[in-house]
Amino acid sequence: MAEHKRSDFVFPPWANYLLPLLIVAVLGGALYAPIIVGYGFSPKATTVGYQPKQPVPYSHAMHAGQLGIDCRFCHTTVENNTYAAIPNTQICMSCHSPQEAGNGIRKNSEKLQPLFDSYESGLPVEWIKVHDLPDYVYFNHSAHVNKGIGCASCHGRIDKMEEVYLDQPLSMSWCLDCHRAPQKHLRPAEQITNMSWTAADEGKDQLTLGAELKDFYNIHDSTYMTSCSTCHR
Ligand code: HEC
Ligand code: HEC
Ligand code: HEC
Ligand code: HEC
Ligand code: HEC
Repeated sequence: MAEHKRSDFVFPPWANYLLPLLIVAVLGGALYAPIIVGYGFSPKATTVGYQPKQPVPYSHAMHAGQLGIDCRFCHTTVENNTYAAIPNTQICMSCHSPQEAGNGIRKNSEKLQPLFDSYESGLPVEWIKVHDLPDYVYFNHSAHVNKGIGCASCHGRIDKMEEVYLDQPLSMSWCLDCHRAPQKHLRPAEQITNMSWTAADEGKDQLTLGAELKDFYNIHDSTYMTSCSTCHR
């Protein structure tokens, strides 16, 4: 569904001229600084540190960190789809169900009440999106995680976050930095959800291992990786 929405957008040819224009506008536009600063301070999805308050105080530090539940137990689609599914209430209820079938962990906790309401009404919990790219950008989770880019490279130490915040800027230059030199980040695909992995675990330094993996995964050359139509299609 999400994929369809994104691929419907055709990046117009005039967009090629937009970026240089934008740069000129910014360099010559000291007058507009107050406007830019004004935008910069309003908390929105592109600001590093953005941390909306969630309807349930769900903690990744507790569930993914202390309890060690794998990311894919909840974000079931990351390896085979463009998007990473947010778990439905059913998945939480496998541990928190107040009914006898579940384990009923913390079943009297007020913090879980919105979850129980959702279970009863059938309406999903209204989680607030933390990461949100503009619709004219094409992004694909499976294309990354199956080629050895770990969750931690883009989302930071989620296993230490009580509440999720934006760890990386998700800007075009951020994407391009890695697309120009993916060897700085590549890891064995079986380690993608291992939050504390480093190349030293394989007895190598990152650049040596990264260069080997770049060949192994047959990563596209940097012309393709940085071409506009790779991300704006
Ligand atoms: C027990 C289920 C569960 C596990 C395990 C889990 N998550 Fe989550 N995750 C959630 C829920 C629920 C949300 C939505 C609420 C929130 O943002 O905290 C979420 C949100 C996120 C978000 C933010 C999504 C957005 O709105 O932009 C990221 C990124 C994320 N998880 C990554 C991870 C990673 C990486 C791991 C493994 C280290 C992981 N999660 C493990 C349940 C889980
Ligand atoms: C594999 C089992 C398991 C799953 C699945 C699970 N949890 Fe938990 N959850 C726990 C455990 C264990 C605790 C800690 C209980 C304690 O501190 O005694 C906990 C604690 C919590 C708490 C804190 C409750 C309190 O009173 O402090 C919240 C909120 C919570 N979970 C929400 C969720 C949500 C939302 C989901 C689904 C996205 C989820 N959990 C999925 C096992 C699970
Ligand atoms: C190459 C960077 C990158 C990697 C690797 C990555 N993500 Fe993401 N993730 C993103 C971006 C960018 C978004 C925002 C996508 C959007 O708004 O369309 C996102 C969004 C999400 C979301 C919100 C739902 C969605 O798809 O928009 C969740 C949950 C999530 N990621 C979990 C994970 C987990 C779990 C892993 C590891 C298995 C992972 N991500 C690996 C960059 C990444
Ligand atoms: C940490 C490194 C890293 C970051 C950050 C990153 N990427 Fe990637 N990206 C990769 C790698 C590696 C591949 C796999 C290339 C291949 O298969 O040849 C890839 C592949 C892709 C592809 C699929 C290309 C294809 O046709 O197979 C798209 C689209 C893409 N990235 C978009 C993005 C966007 C948009 C962002 C920023 C929001 C981003 N990427 C951030 C490393 C990264
Ligand atoms: C690796 C992925 C990637 C590639 C390649 C890429 N872009 Fe982008 N582009 C993005 C992302 C992500 C954004 C959204 C940034 C944001 O929201 O801050 C973006 C935003 C833009 C914008 C809007 C700028 C703004 O500030 O509003 C323009 C224009 C643009 N890109 C043009 C291009 C052109 C022209 C090329 C080829 C030279 C290109 N892009 C190549 C990922 C990419």
